[in-house]
Amino acid sequence: MQPPVNVVILAAGLGTRMKSKYAKVLHRAGGLTLIEHVVRAAAGIASPEHITVVVGHQGEQVKATLDSSGVRFAEQTEQKGTGDAVLVCREALHRQKGFVVVLYGDCPLLSEATLRELVDRQATSDAAATLIITRLEDPAGYGRVVLDEQGRVKAIVEQKAATPEQLAISSINTGIYCFRADLLWKHIGEIRPDNRAHEYYLTDIVEILNRAGHNVAAMEVSNPAELLGINTRVELAEADKILRDRKARQLMLEGVTIERPETVSIDGDVRIGGDSVIGAFAQILGTSQIGVDCRIGAGSIISNSQLADGVQVAPFTSIADSQIGAGAHIGPFARLRNGNRVGANAHIGNFVELKNTQFAAGAKANHLAYLGDAEIGEKTNIGAGTITCNFDGEKKHRTRIGKDVFVGSNSTLVAPIELGEGSYIGAGSVITDPVPADALALGRARQVIKEGWATKKKKKK
Ligand code: UD1
Ligand code: MG
Repeated sequence: MQPPVNVVILAAGLGTRMKSKYAKVLHRAGGLTLIEHVVRAAAGIASPEHITVVVGHQGEQVKATLDSSGVRFAEQTEQKGTGDAVLVCREALHRQKGFVVVLYGDCPLLSEATLRELVDRQATSDAAATLIITRLEDPAGYGRVVLDEQGRVKAIVEQKAATPEQLAISSINTGIYCFRADLLWKHIGEIRPDNRAHEYYLTDIVEILNRAGHNVAAMEVSNPAELLGINTRVELAEADKILRDRKARQLMLEGVTIERPETVSIDGDVRIGGDSVIGAFAQILGTSQIGVDCRIGAGSIISNSQLADGVQVAPFTSIADSQIGAGAHIGPFARLRNGNRVGANAHIGNFVELKNTQFAAGAKANHLAYLGDAEIGEKTNIGAGTITCNFDGEKKHRTRIGKDVFVGSNSTLVAPIELGEGSYIGAGSVITDPVPADALALGRARQVIKEGWATKKKKKK
């Protein structure tokens, strides 16, 4: 059995190089915040109560983001450096035996498998710590790792403090470490801010452990993409691209066709069924789930929505927080805002907007309509230009339309209003009173014909 592992994730910094008023770890790549990615990777080696996230800048938001994960938090009130950030966890963790894995919250591509290997290596070695290193053609910005002839780590030199010879070293510190818990807690307080930045560098722990007679081992990982640390928005875009490429590839291997995959954005938690086709520049975001045999047209954006099997979404359609039944046709250029339930085989055409509307199976609104806070019955036809007037300037009201209703074009339905089953509304009507089932309602001025009127008018000239 493996000894227990605690994970400490450092996420207190602002991230000055992001040039942002938001804490760095709250920026998103592949649809999740950076800190969520790191916590998910950590969850592969420790249960949530053994994961401690060090928060500082916008700590409340960071905590809220991780609310459902069950992890613990430690506060670093002043950001004095990565060494100090680990130190603030000592009180809570120093009695726990085993290993402490330290991760930085700005390293979102890290995999569970790599972390597991790190812990295995450390657990089977006599070193005080093992750290993951990689070689980069351009190591700029990272701490350089000085190795001895046996490949053990002698020191980590931060870029700002490195000599020209040290700057030429291509092995870099990825910021992923596994420490023997007893030795980490014994020595962490010895780090001093004796550098130009006056920061407590966690990386100084290597020399401290060496001086105390311990070895520090290196685990070299050959795929540097996994270890990318995000310090600027350029690196954020790189991480986002890697995560989206990964997701698209995974979906394609599972049987989803993606046209021009380099142009689509699909968030990590999205699920898509086999033989569905995703058009170029589509975005499928959040917790969206898409069934089999669906088509998502070019440029459409689907967020936090569920689409059953065989749904056809034509290009440039936006669907948010909605559920779409099997075989429905939506778009092009339709906009479904929050809270809609669209039934099977329903049709919603171009320039139709829905909000908080139940649109039953087989109903149609093929062109130019606004349906808000409404219930539309089965097989009802909503004519072009129909508007539900759901807002009276103060409150929202509901429109209830039964099944098999025919709403003529350009009808204005002033809510609260009810149209009974099987009723007809004449085109151009303004409907303010309830319409009984099977009735015809006309709410418009009667047409007047004046024979010969035009001839007389012309003669007057
Ligand atoms: C750090 C390492 C560097 C390594 C690189 C890998 C140090 C001194 N340097 O540099 O060797 O190559 O990561 O990506 O560790 N943080 C806190 N409290 C603080 C300071 C930072 O919680 O007081 C957090 C930040 O929120 C961030 C993480 O620690 O998530 C790393 O800080 P960052 O400033 O990005 O360090 P780097 O300069 O990238
Ligand atoms: Mg960093």
